[in-house]
Amino acid sequence: MKFFIDTANVEDIRKANDMGVICGVTTNPSLIAKEGRDFKEVIKEITTIVDGPISGEVKATTVDAEGMIKEGREIAAIHPNMVVKIPMTVEGLKAVKVLSAEGIKTNVTLIFTANQALLAARAGATYVSPFLGRLDDISTAGISLIEDIVTIFDNYGLETEIIAASIRHPMHVTDCALAGAHIATVPYKVIEQMTHHPLTDQGIAKFQADYKAVFGE
Ligand code: E4P
Repeated sequence: MKFFIDTANVEDIRKANDMGVICGVTTNPSLIAKEGRDFKEVIKEITTIVDGPISGEVKATTVDAEGMIKEGREIAAIHPNMVVKIPMTVEGLKAVKVLSAEGIKTNVTLIFTANQALLAARAGATYVSPFLGRLDDISTAGISLIEDIVTIFDNYGLETEIIAASIRHPMHVTDCALAGAHIATVPYKVIEQMTHHPLTDQGIAKFQADYKAVFGE
């Protein structure tokens, strides 16, 4: 399973990129709004940091296919690595069909059922983003959705890649890897949490103490 980082915060993107673990970035309208920066400006900066797929979403207020297609073309023109993120609606699917026929990569977002993922794949989506954490939040096992999509895509040899999204903690990451998701898009905080284990931290402290006791600083 590959890792993308799920943020529009360029400092977090730099930190994760420096660790060598991420190969792409996903953003959404809420993450862009959180940074309070112009969409194009922040996206352009991200393209200078990570050399991999970067998802930029059409405006949250654009709901018609024609508008999404126009914005999608503009987003794709920012950089060759851009992926146009489109919400899962009838209009969104129409936009995916047109954009993918033009060779523009798409990521269909807000996927909460296997049927939605199957429709998005058939429309030509490069990626689908099932939201694990938001399902867990309403007492529905999000991981079952990932497992079902993996099985269905495997059954039919679909090339659309599954980006497990709405990841809240390290166990989500392990579960997604076991389920066979192609990619997990993970906030920086969770990437950082994944590096830790109490015995690793204690081991480092003991090695330092033992070394210093004999050799000093
Ligand atoms: C996916 O691409 C979304 O940006 C993201 O994973 C949503 O996560 P949230 O449910 O934590 O907002």
